[in-house]
Amino acid sequence: MKVFRSPEKLSIAINRIKQNKKRVGFVPTMGALHAGHLSLIKQAVKENNTVVVSIFVNPAQFGPQEDLKKYPRLLKMDLALCRQAGVDFIFLPENKIMYPRGYSTFVNVEGLSEVLCGSSRPGHFRGVATVVAKLFNIVRPDVLYLGQKDAQQAVIIARMIKDLNFPVKVKVLPTVRGNDGVALSSRNAYLSDKEREDAVVLSKALLLAQSLIDNGQRHADRIINRMKELISKKRSARIDYAAVVDLENLMPLKKIKPGCLIALAVKIGKTRLIDNIIIREGSGKWGQNYFSKIKIGKK
Ligand code: PAF
Repeated sequence: MKVFRSPEKLSIAINRIKQNKKRVGFVPTMGALHAGHLSLIKQAVKENNTVVVSIFVNPAQFGPQEDLKKYPRLLKMDLALCRQAGVDFIFLPENKIMYPRGYSTFVNVEGLSEVLCGSSRPGHFRGVATVVAKLFNIVRPDVLYLGQKDAQQAVIIARMIKDLNFPVKVKVLPTVRGNDGVALSSRNAYLSDKEREDAVVLSKALLLAQSLIDNGQRHADRIINRMKELISKKRSARIDYAAVVDLENLMPLKKIKPGCLIALAVKIGKTRLIDNIIIREGSGKWGQNYFSKIKIGKK
């Protein structure tokens, strides 16, 4: 496994790979890797000749009041996990390399970036789209691997790929969960034991939504109300949003339909957590794998 800090050196190595017509898989991360990241990395290793993982805590996607400073940084462990998983190249740029003095170019995916998480995190998705576009230009991947937990991010990146003609195919893999049902996230590290217990309420609310739908409920507002009722029972929980939206345009839906996204953002104590399911008739417990059915990105 080779570690690159310089975009130019990584680009030269990628050029060599591309000359040999090898497929490049790419997993962008902010480090503090967990089993969710590893499932993306393992899939990428299975499907590509060369796998690149970037580790970069991107300041452009954090608001002024957010957790940039305390975001977990576990580089040694991350590198060991990547080596073990068979990663070929790590890209580990510094802030001043990605955003040198005078940096002024940003990518904004309009509309999709302002709803759901975008309304309480203004500028967040502009930061995500910008860094991912920059990483695409450096890594030039054939396939990008993302997790369904960040469904809105996946939809936005897929839109950017289409709009800006990046020749990249997107694969969105199912959310990986702890035994208690909590979606894995680097931010789970902030939770106290009691808060971790309370955090289970997000996945419970989504399972409740799924079971209401399985039993014939089709009214989005009734499902949202039942989810909110359940979450509100936890004193540490403060709901940012509970929404039923169309997966392709993220617009609210009145009625449940296959392919709709049920998404939650809830603060447990000071930690903001997100989770979601995608509804597909007969899709089973978590409505997984629906992303593979919708057309996003290349092909
Ligand atoms: O999902 C993340 O970890 C980040 O948003 C990403 C895609 C690596 C961009 O910084």
